[in-house]
Amino acid sequence: MQLPAALIEFLPKVRSVGAITGAGVSAESGIQTYRGQGGVYDDPDVGDQTVEALSGETLAVDPDLTWRTIAAMARQSRDARPNPAHHALVAIEKKVPRFALLTQNVDPLHQEAGSRNIIPIHGDLYATRCLECNGRSRMEREDFETLDAAPRCKACGGVLRPGAVLFGETLPLEESMRMRKEFVDFIPDLVVIAGTTALFPYIQQPVLLARQAGRLTVEVNPERTLLSDVVDFFLKGKAGTLLPLLADALP
Ligand code: OAD
Repeated sequence: MQLPAALIEFLPKVRSVGAITGAGVSAESGIQTYRGQGGVYDDPDVGDQTVEALSGETLAVDPDLTWRTIAAMARQSRDARPNPAHHALVAIEKKVPRFALLTQNVDPLHQEAGSRNIIPIHGDLYATRCLECNGRSRMEREDFETLDAAPRCKACGGVLRPGAVLFGETLPLEESMRMRKEFVDFIPDLVVIAGTTALFPYIQQPVLLARQAGRLTVEVNPERTLLSDVVDFFLKGKAGTLLPLLADALP
């Protein structure tokens, strides 16, 4: 597989890159996507229940259910390690003076691969906060192994909330501000979006802004999405194949 010559030609001019990722970037690490074939939400048996369990409303009335659902997902990705797509984004970050990675993923694979300027806009699955005293703590991978009820705060005994943003909740403030700084107030020379259905307006916006401003926009996905007709280059294929090609082609 090769990148289009017209894309390669533009790369020497790129001084700043904004990358946007979703579940598809972790798919080759063995983590289920949310939508599409094999997607958690599209499971004909439990998909709808999963969506309901992962909502702020359910957390308020039945935190054990929310946590059991999260723990099952965390166990499924227990052995996941960064794949060539994660490593390619680290390589890209090292090649350009300015780089930001906006990720919707709540797994720790970008962090484990070594990406630095990460904006985890949907939170971090392992970072918890007490619903009573607001105390912050962290879960480890092994904490999910036996978890079958909401974990409790070591300080006050209150129920902990998971670090991931749930359905019906607002985005975390600090990450929203950073997203604005890196993708709206500043528009990168190259915006590359990979492995996401790009359903949310705040995920589409950086790509639309970059396109409007005449910057280079690239999408990597085996399937077409809402953005495929908007970007300059839709690269049809897997992130683990195409992002390393892009990283190598950047001078
Ligand atoms: P989705 O599950 O909606 O989409 C995954 C995308 O990855 C699809 O477009 C697939 O075609 C694509 N894909 C699959 N395998 C791929 C591969 N090997 N390489 C590249 N792309 C691949 O996941 P997201 O768009 O990330 O929210 O979902 C957005 C949010 O919805 C998630 O962050 C999650 C969910 O509710 C929270 O956790 C808060």
